[in-house]
Amino acid sequence: MTARGCFISFEGIDGSGKSTQARMLADHLRAQGTDVILTREPGGSPGAEQIRKLLLEGATDRWSAETEILLFTAARRDHLERVIDPALAAGKVVICDRFADSTRMYQGIRGAGLRDLVDRLHAMLIEREPDMTVLVDMEPETGLERALARAGGEARFETFGAELQTRLRAGFLELAATAPERIMVIDGDRPAAEVAADIAARVEARLP
Ligand code: TMP
Repeated sequence: MTARGCFISFEGIDGSGKSTQARMLADHLRAQGTDVILTREPGGSPGAEQIRKLLLEGATDRWSAETEILLFTAARRDHLERVIDPALAAGKVVICDRFADSTRMYQGIRGAGLRDLVDRLHAMLIEREPDMTVLVDMEPETGLERALARAGGEARFETFGAELQTRLRAGFLELAATAPERIMVIDGDRPAAEVAADIAARVEARLP
């Protein structure tokens, strides 16, 4: 496990139910007396939450892919320094709704050379990988319907459409296949309580 705590990220396409599942896992572990920090990206620290607003609000073409990568990485660095690393050093379980895999997918697939840029910046400024990643897998059509129903003011990415969600889903599954020791794929197209029980069992089996 990382430092003395354990770092768990949740990933998935928009509307996959991963935020609900991250919360349910946090509640489950807390009920057993585990000290859990539930956080999210982009955001999770005051500075990174300000960057989140810049990233998620406004026109779809507000930022180039390169600028977006810099902003996501800046937000992640602040979140890591101020929230994630101190919590891990204190022995806590950190559950993070999205982390670097989201940048690898959402920004990395937008053009030639971008995945490499994401990976190089990650190597320079972030380095840390989660001890475990829960990939909540979901049909893109179902996910998009759910995401659009509750998008509100943060709709920049969700307006990208079904074709993008399909590519993202395939990308996440490919990524999981390259890192099976870190990323567990969970079928999210089931009742939330069933998905949560599955996740809790698989995470607990690997917690110290
Ligand atoms: P959320 O819906 O999980 O709160 O995430 C907000 C949006 O931000 C979502 O559409 C995915 C996007 N995103 C990226 O494009 N790159 C990233 O690195 C992260 C963390 C999120």
